[in-house]
Amino acid sequence: MPMHIRQLGPGFVGEVSGLDLTRPLPPEDIAAIHAGMDKYAVLIFHGQNFTDEQQLAFTQSLGPLEVAIGTSLRGEHRLASPHFADVSNIDKDGKVFKRDDRRWQFAIGNRLWHSDSSFKTIPAKYSLLHARALPSKGGNTEFADMRQAWDSLDAETQAICEPLVCEHSQLYSRAKLGFTEFTPEERERFKPVLQRLVRIHPSTRRKSIYLSSHAGKIVGWPEPEAKAFLMDLNEMATQREFAYSHKWQVGDLVMWDNRSTMHRARPFPVDEPRDVRRTTLMGEASTMDQAA
Ligand code: OGA
Ligand code: MN
Repeated sequence: MPMHIRQLGPGFVGEVSGLDLTRPLPPEDIAAIHAGMDKYAVLIFHGQNFTDEQQLAFTQSLGPLEVAIGTSLRGEHRLASPHFADVSNIDKDGKVFKRDDRRWQFAIGNRLWHSDSSFKTIPAKYSLLHARALPSKGGNTEFADMRQAWDSLDAETQAICEPLVCEHSQLYSRAKLGFTEFTPEERERFKPVLQRLVRIHPSTRRKSIYLSSHAGKIVGWPEPEAKAFLMDLNEMATQREFAYSHKWQVGDLVMWDNRSTMHRARPFPVDEPRDVRRTTLMGEASTMDQAA
């Protein structure tokens, strides 16, 4: 069966059929996936019964991988490779985290709208999240299109945004949830990086607004004014018409372009395991290398 993409929801999500991602793909399928990502920004593939090795191999066939170690408070890694971000609620012994576990409370930050690794100098390109085990209810992942958000801003607001540079850090996203106790080592590891607020997609040349819960300051702006401005932009950018909610099935692989979308996790029963594993493609450049 040849590859086919069916549009879902508000237009930036495509459901892909006709591909078995557990086996090596020919170059024309790889090219069609990249083209699909540029057209949509979120692609959903059902029924992919990946092992970790197969998920890594598929991700690698799309480009160089990002290393995920050191970006959470999990400590010792549960998964086979440092290229996996463990997005589950499971500790390295296979047990669901206790509700008040600091490592899990930090991971709750995923419930805020964000773009992956916006706190890194060179932020992520695509994220590929695969569902291995799911809770009985809840736990959807929601997506919003930041190209559409940019297009819908009035010219005056666009002109204000255009030259702005934000500071991004996991310290800022966690502070929004009241999580502010960090060791000096963690503060150093999570120290802020700069990102432009308006970014241009390298292949489509479309502009998007680069929001993320990690953005906590605007360079040169008083902090309350910056926070209020970013909150207004977030509210506009994630309104229902611009968003899509993915209800997971085991075996789903969802791939999104962090350069043009935001996403967030939705809650689920705290005592049930949710095993979702992310591989991530490295970005190509810092947004600061892009001309204002
Ligand atoms: C991620 C993420 C959301 C979820 O994998 O980067 O934010 O629903 N996941 O688990
Ligand atoms: Mn994420």
